[in-house]
Amino acid sequence: MSKAQMTKTLRFAITAFCAAGVLAGSVFVGAAVAADRKPEDALKYRKGVLTGLAWHFGPVVAMAKGEAPFDQAQLTERAAAMAALSKMLGEGFIQGTAMGQIEGTKSKPEIWSDSADFQKKLEALQTATAALASASGSLAQGDLGKHVAAIGGSCKACHDTYRAK
Ligand code: HEC
Repeated sequence: MSKAQMTKTLRFAITAFCAAGVLAGSVFVGAAVAADRKPEDALKYRKGVLTGLAWHFGPVVAMAKGEAPFDQAQLTERAAAMAALSKMLGEGFIQGTAMGQIEGTKSKPEIWSDSADFQKKLEALQTATAALASASGSLAQGDLGKHVAAIGGSCKACHDTYRAK
């Protein structure tokens, strides 16, 4: 390849790269914004997601116990909401938002120092809620209890280790 050809090829490559950069711009902007999140907003966000999980889980538990009528359509909606919220939860635990770093949180510093284990506990929740979401459309009331136990167990396992009393 001649020097002129090489320059041309290189210029083309740079142009193509920049064009791709423009297209991917929104992704980069998103990442930059994520890095700038305010700690207090992250706390509000994760408490919101957790409150949402509890909001949907309560009526599902009641159905499992027979304290509320079994309603398949409602179960399906709540299970889908919980599966979605479970996937949204991790994002709320940004650096610098542990107890001792900000006010109003019960999140132990171990969430960040034992992050691989925290991630495992988060994935246990995601697996359990996804399993209920996929089964919910045709699930019998009698089979709801074991899903509720699996989900509730994943909440408890994480709280026991990573949430202060
Ligand atoms: C992977 C870990 C993890 C899992 C799984 C988990 N939680 Fe939590 N939860 C936490 C932590 C940590 C806190 C403390 C949050 C804080 O104060 O920063 C918390 C706090 C909460 C709160 C209090 C929110 C507030 O406004 O103070 C509720 C309600 C809650 N969790 C419900 C649930 C339910 C219901 C489930 C299961 C369906 C669940 N959590 C699963 C880690 C988890």
